[in-house]
Amino acid sequence: MPGVATDKLQTIAYPAAGARPHRRDAESLEPHVIVLFGATGDLAKRKLLPGLAYLEESALAPDIRLVATSLENYTGEQFLAIAREAVDGFGSRKLSDEQWAHFAERVTYVPQGAGPQALADAVIAAERLLGDDVRRLHYLSVPPKAAQSVITMLKDANLVDRSRVVMEKPFGTDLASAIELNDFVHDTFSEEQIFRIDHFLGKEAAQNILAFRFANGLFEPIWNRNFIDHIQIDIPEKLGLDARANFYESTGAYKDMVVTHLFQVMAFVVMEPPTALEPRAISEEKNKVFRSMLPVDTADVVRGQYTGYREEDGVARDSDTETFIALKVGIDNWRWAGVPIYLRTGKKMAEGQRIISIAFKEAPRTMFPPGSGVGSEGPDHLTFDLADESKVSLSFYGKRPGPGMKLDKLSMQFSTQETDSVGDVLEAYERLILDAMRGDHTLFTTAEGIESLWERSAQLLEDPPPVKSYPVGTWGPNAIHQLIAPNAWRLPFERAWREKKSAT
Ligand code: BG6
Repeated sequence: MPGVATDKLQTIAYPAAGARPHRRDAESLEPHVIVLFGATGDLAKRKLLPGLAYLEESALAPDIRLVATSLENYTGEQFLAIAREAVDGFGSRKLSDEQWAHFAERVTYVPQGAGPQALADAVIAAERLLGDDVRRLHYLSVPPKAAQSVITMLKDANLVDRSRVVMEKPFGTDLASAIELNDFVHDTFSEEQIFRIDHFLGKEAAQNILAFRFANGLFEPIWNRNFIDHIQIDIPEKLGLDARANFYESTGAYKDMVVTHLFQVMAFVVMEPPTALEPRAISEEKNKVFRSMLPVDTADVVRGQYTGYREEDGVARDSDTETFIALKVGIDNWRWAGVPIYLRTGKKMAEGQRIISIAFKEAPRTMFPPGSGVGSEGPDHLTFDLADESKVSLSFYGKRPGPGMKLDKLSMQFSTQETDSVGDVLEAYERLILDAMRGDHTLFTTAEGIESLWERSAQLLEDPPPVKSYPVGTWGPNAIHQLIAPNAWRLPFERAWREKKSAT
């Protein structure tokens, strides 16, 4: 889609130094020591360190101190240099020297190799500086195998009390390993303390799906198989592997994106109304969706690998890992039986987009004269764009001005960037770290939900169809068209999103 920078956050200014309201006034949250494992990794650099620096500076978070740790044997200064570069390079908001110094004072680095006691000492020292009733938030930004040794370390360091733990996906790689991982974690932490993060659910636009569906009488009566023809959740990425070949080779698009992000977003789109917007009620409804999902049938799956993937550093020359996947799933319940849901995601594709598209059933066309154009551009669609500038659009046929009855596909669009609250948008990780500090599980994933998804993925994991190659910069292997026929992929868009007009 031309002209839409979906990978770019708005630049939002930090609150001016000194202008920060007293934190406890906003919400009484206990001060927190955040222990960040994997503090020099890709995710920490791109999202977590910039996000924590912003939260520390904003009025939203309580007083925090960061104990950063990783396998690297860095000194405190070396780590801070890396962290500053990350915050400056990847943060969407600019940080003054004074603001950086304020944040840096609150950071300690401990190499993981220094052992549990050194980590405990650093946490206790940070807690003393924060006063009473300090809580701990352990952020495990590490691969699944490393998560187990980190949990053992936290137990050995006696850091489980008063703590919550944020875990990164993948949560296992199949049903057996997910159960094993969940059992292992439950030996140390109770489910209450565990926050399995799916950053897609932290995106403003994903939460807007809930607001849109459940706060409006207009769409509620038509949100079912009688009116909706099919649904697409399409998340192509232009990005490649960056430095993540090691992680990606053993994960692939299905485990990296579909189980964690696409299915979770799908649950927001199709779930029954929860009795309240609170964690237990929402998890219950999401888990019902996963239980009603038909097992993924390999005949409905296209796996792809971009040309040149096997030549990438860290990738096996005969790798069978998919860098692309498209699939059709069904939810076998009263609301959705017979409505196909198409999912697609992949690396090094033509565009970076994150859309959910709801296609409505078509109206009879007979009353319109031949050549009027009715129906010629597909059905009416409701489209959610999960970009940081969250957007919603409704497309429909309308009359082209002038003589006769010619129809054009028109659209009504909404974008957060056109509102006055655009500056309040929180980056997904910021929102979710705050929620975890508040103990709010609403946007996190449960052990039960993940296990049902692995169960429904068993056939695909055991007997995946062969990967088909696709050229870099395309929409995937040709087989994607057969998969969706007689429907068609919405992307690339025929009509661009309306761009914000600058004020004149
Ligand atoms: C991550 C995946 O969870 O999500 C990455 O591991 C992917 O492979 C990323 O690129 C996409 O997230 P976003 O927010 O940039 O769309």
